[in-house]
Amino acid sequence: MSDEALQYARAHRDAYLDDLLKYVAIPSVSAQPEHKPDVLRAANWLTQHLNEIGLDSRIMPTGGNPVVYGEWMKKPGAPTVLIYGHYDVQPAEPFDLWKSPPFAPEIRDGAIYARGADDNKGQHMAHIKALDALLRATGELPVNVKIIVEGEEEIGGTNLPLFVREHAAMLACDCVMISDGSLFDISRPTITYGLRGLSQMEVTVKALARDVHSGHFGGNVQNPAVAIAQIIAGLKDAQGRVVVPSFYDDVRPLSTDERAEIAQVPWGPAEVINESGALQAFGDPDFTANERKGARPTLEINGLWSGYTGPGGKTIIPAEAHCKITCRLVPYMDPQKVIDAVQAHIRKLAPPGVEVSFKDVHGGIASLIDRSSPLFQAAAAAAEATYGNPPYYELEGGSIPVVADFLSVLQKPVILLGFGLPTDAIHSPNEKYSVECYEKGIEASVRFLTGLSQK
Ligand code: BES
Ligand code: MN
Repeated sequence: MSDEALQYARAHRDAYLDDLLKYVAIPSVSAQPEHKPDVLRAANWLTQHLNEIGLDSRIMPTGGNPVVYGEWMKKPGAPTVLIYGHYDVQPAEPFDLWKSPPFAPEIRDGAIYARGADDNKGQHMAHIKALDALLRATGELPVNVKIIVEGEEEIGGTNLPLFVREHAAMLACDCVMISDGSLFDISRPTITYGLRGLSQMEVTVKALARDVHSGHFGGNVQNPAVAIAQIIAGLKDAQGRVVVPSFYDDVRPLSTDERAEIAQVPWGPAEVINESGALQAFGDPDFTANERKGARPTLEINGLWSGYTGPGGKTIIPAEAHCKITCRLVPYMDPQKVIDAVQAHIRKLAPPGVEVSFKDVHGGIASLIDRSSPLFQAAAAAAEATYGNPPYYELEGGSIPVVADFLSVLQKPVILLGFGLPTDAIHSPNEKYSVECYEKGIEASVRFLTGLSQK
């Protein structure tokens, strides 16, 4: 069954690529209200696409952006896999750093350049094309398939967790398959068994009723930009450790065995520099780069602004200063507890004469996946047959919030097998997805679904 489908996919590679190009051309940026119509257009396009392939599909409302749901349940007795993806994308700004426009996909050097090409349209499209190839080549699927593609992943939406709870019966399955991450490299797959959670907030430090003359009042009032700098400087030490009291209290410790397994992944300071463009690798010296990536929590400033930032000078003391903070959490940490601890520490660090307030406060827990289920072997075997080597097992630093909901509501293993590359520049200008990654993703998916039917 898989050979015929693989042949079919190879024979139709141009059409498969074309469909992905059409999909990534839709600017479904969930963070930006002006793109709401595009978000809906992406959902409708995908629903229709799934219907054309032969899945029974529909667009389903949530409290926010709709969910696209499709299924093929014609194999009674066979396992059921739930495939998950997200059709929303990160904002593409700053536009001037893109070599080709983010929503006018261009193929250069064998890669598709577009926002969402890797994260996540190209990756769930690989699964969809695998379904198409199997259906066209053999007239059926080897297992029952459900697919859910959401539109609020990139904004940490709160509607999907609710949707999953309300539609637990519809989503019931034997395992969940998610491709929303990366390979180690094109010849080495990874299976992710843990994802970090997130606690986030925006901080406002206010010192004045309005911006004032910096000469007339300078020396007699607090400057909120200085105050916020002092606050931020008090959150971490020079080595990158978070100094918020109790921050590390609940962190899951690594066993010697797990440390040894993580140490096998050849990812260190050189790879950090190569993949991020950092001037230097930097982090808590008590842990390795691999451990810091997925097994340790972080606190980062995502944005910081105050006063006048336009051309030339402006002699003011700004009224307010702002920053956005996110903490990445590891298993056993409670997002609300972290929020409370960080806020308490910020209030303590605030100098006299300023008022601190918080908004957009959210949290989501980390995930840890028990990989003892035999269904993981189907994924590992499919990955090895496709990429030439057995997978590494990794703790990922990024977050896919719904994984925790799937684990708690569906109580089934979630298999995270990424189809992208670490150098794909997700969330950055010039995001790309190599055509080879797309085609190998289709092959891996065909092999996984076929292998699953033998479990
Ligand atoms: N695909 C990423 C998660 C990811 C990143 C997996 C890197 C593997 C490697 C996902 O789309 C993402 O970016 N998630 C957000 C979630 C957040 C907005 C709640 C993230 O991690 O920032
Ligand atoms: Mn993302």
